[in-house]
Order: sequence, then structure tokens, then C-alpha cells
Amino acid sequence: MKGLILSGGKGSRLYPLTYTSAKQLIPVANKPVLVRVIETIKEAGIDEIGIVINVGSRGDQIRNAIGNGSEFGVKVTYIVQEQPLGLAHAVKVSEDFLGDERFVMFLGDNVIEGGISPLIKQFADSTWNSQIVLTRVANPMQYGVADLAPDGSIRRLIEKPKDPPSDLALVGIYMFDASIHKATHAIKPSWRGELEITDAIQWLVDQGMSVHPYVHKGWWIDTGKKEDMIEANNMVLEELDHQIHGYVDRDSTIGRRVTIEQGAEIINSVVRGPTIIGKNTRIINSYIGPYTSIFHDCVIENSEIEHSMMLENGSVHNIEGRIQDSLIGRNVIIRKSPIRPKAHKFTLGDNSKLGLL
Ligand code: DAU
Repeated sequence: MKGLILSGGKGSRLYPLTYTSAKQLIPVANKPVLVRVIETIKEAGIDEIGIVINVGSRGDQIRNAIGNGSEFGVKVTYIVQEQPLGLAHAVKVSEDFLGDERFVMFLGDNVIEGGISPLIKQFADSTWNSQIVLTRVANPMQYGVADLAPDGSIRRLIEKPKDPPSDLALVGIYMFDASIHKATHAIKPSWRGELEITDAIQWLVDQGMSVHPYVHKGWWIDTGKKEDMIEANNMVLEELDHQIHGYVDRDSTIGRRVTIEQGAEIINSVVRGPTIIGKNTRIINSYIGPYTSIFHDCVIENSEIEHSMMLENGSVHNIEGRIQDSLIGRNVIIRKSPIRPKAHKFTLGDNSKLGLL
């Protein structure tokens, strides 16, 4: 069995971060979402993985971050999709890589509760043509939705329905045998101009093929927007154990479920979990509250932050109010300015969002 991860697309709901960076590389609890997906596929015993990327710098960043996959114990092949023409289109451009093998396809921006690997193994040993993963959601109009018959079989699948027949959304994990290639060639683009994987699976159902629905009971988050990213971060932080690999001085207090990575330093500060402090990050005279991830090489000095994510090499100095509910990009500097006039002074990227008191 092979793995296919879709990491193309624009990520426009996460601007400005995704102007310069691929959203699949944003670290959730200090590990990129894409690495979490690779680890899940590897856990299922699959070590040959294709990653669909788009042309240009975001695709290049993914190549640079993941390389040939040896760091993660897998062999990675990159498949360039010239334009984001849909999830079924991504399967179409991956046909040479996939050949006749069964495969599991993951959306590279989805975060799911652990324990999904046995399901993939089960499909590998089955004769089903496909298995899809469903979960109950509050807003089914935003997803692909399944209408199941009373016996649990699939009656119909609809992409982003105006009038959803159920609250069972398609989670971004799909398992297929080679019959999916016939489907991706048979379907036509949807109203949004994309070749929808939902329509391709409906085609399999219409041909009388066996598509097995599995209803996932744990949590699952599609990290499209900032709020989802922070929510995914919260969920993963809750799963982490207490581990202190860095230095904590005597004047600091570390609460429960805190991870402090190697080379990090906590000086005269209070850190309350669940929280993770990345490699070589320094926390000085500060408060880091619950549900916070501070990535590698950051500095937080004389400031307070909680329920937030900070990416690499950022710094916060001498900020009076507490920072909350924030997603702070790479190399961002936030500091109190001693230079007159006494005013807010910003250098913000396009489409930035700033919440002031
Ligand atoms: O998140 C689950 C949902 O994902 C499902 O419920 C829907 O049925 C499915 O169509 C999909 O909907 P989205 O509209 O949320 O998909 P999105 O365009 O955000 O793309 C999902 C991922 O796939 C994202 O990581 C980018 C990648 N992608 C997307 C497209 C359109 C590609 O690699 N190539 C593409 O052409």
C-alpha cells in the first residue's frame, strides 16, 4: 500500500502567514501538520509516500522541509500539480506514482486524534474498493457530506451541500484501490470548477463498488483558519506528556503538562500547561499560560502570553497587556518602543489582523 498527501492549494484563509509559507508546515504543538500526517501513515506500516505540491515557493519549502523522507523513515516522491484543480485532479496527476496499488490519501492540513493507523491497515487487508472516514460536525455545509442508508451503507455523497442531508462530514482521509482512477477520468468539474473527490467516490458507489464508511468518534480539525489552527494546537497539547529537557532556574515555576525542549531556558518565569516551549527558546521574567506553543529560537521577555501559537525566531519584549488567542508568524518582533512619540507603531503584512485594547 502507498500513501498520498495533498499539500497543494493556496491556503488563502490563513493569509498573511501563507503568502510566504505553506500552511502544511505550520507547527501544531511544535510539529508541522505535514510531519504529523507522515508519522500517521508510517505507523500504518506504509513507507512509500507521494506528496502533491504546487509550483513555486510553497512547494519548494515542502521539499526543503521533508527532503527524501529518510528523516521520518519513509521514501518521499514529489508530484507537482500545476494548478489546484481539485482533490480528484490531484489523484489524477499522481496516477504514475500510484500505479495499481491500494493507497491512503490524506489532506496535508488536517489534524486528527491519534489511533487512525489500524483503520488503514484494515483496509490494506480488505477487498473493499474504498473506505472513507466520516465525523459529525456542527457546520456540514462547509464539507463533503454523506447520506447513509439505515443499514449504514452510503446512499449519496454531496460536496458542500446547501441543504445537508446529515451532519456526517468527510474527513480528509480516504482509502482507495485502483478503481478510483477510472472514477477521476469519468467525472466532470463541479460548480466551483474543481474535480471533486466526493464526486469520484459517488461514481464508485453508482458503479456498485464497495465503499465502506467509517465514523470517527474522536476529534478532527481541518486547519483552514486561525481559530482552527489554535484549536488543533489545543487538542494536540492535551495529548502531550510532561517533559523537561531544557533548563529551568530556581526562581521559575513550571505547572503540569509542560514540555520544555532541548536548549530552552526558563528564567524567573511561570509556565502553566498544557504548553510547549521549543528548542533554544528563552523565557525571561514572563508568564506563559495554558494552551500555548512557542516554537524554536524565540525570546519572550517581561511579557505574558497564553492560548496562542508563536512560530520560529519570534520575540516579544516588555509588553504590558497579556497576549491571547494569537497566531504569530515567523521572525515577528513585538516590543514596547521607547522612542517618542508614544504611539502604536506597526509593520504589518497584507491581510494581517491586529486586535488592540
Ligand atoms: O477538510 C475536509 C474537506 O476537504 C472535505 O469534507 C471535502 O469533501 C473536501 O472536498 C475538502 O474540502 P476543502 O474545500 O476544505 O478542500 P481544500 O480546497 O481546502 O483542500 C484540502 C487540501 O488539499 C489542502 O491541504 C490543499 C490540498 N489541495 C487542494 C486542492 C483543491 C491540493 O493539493 N490540490 C488541489 O487541487
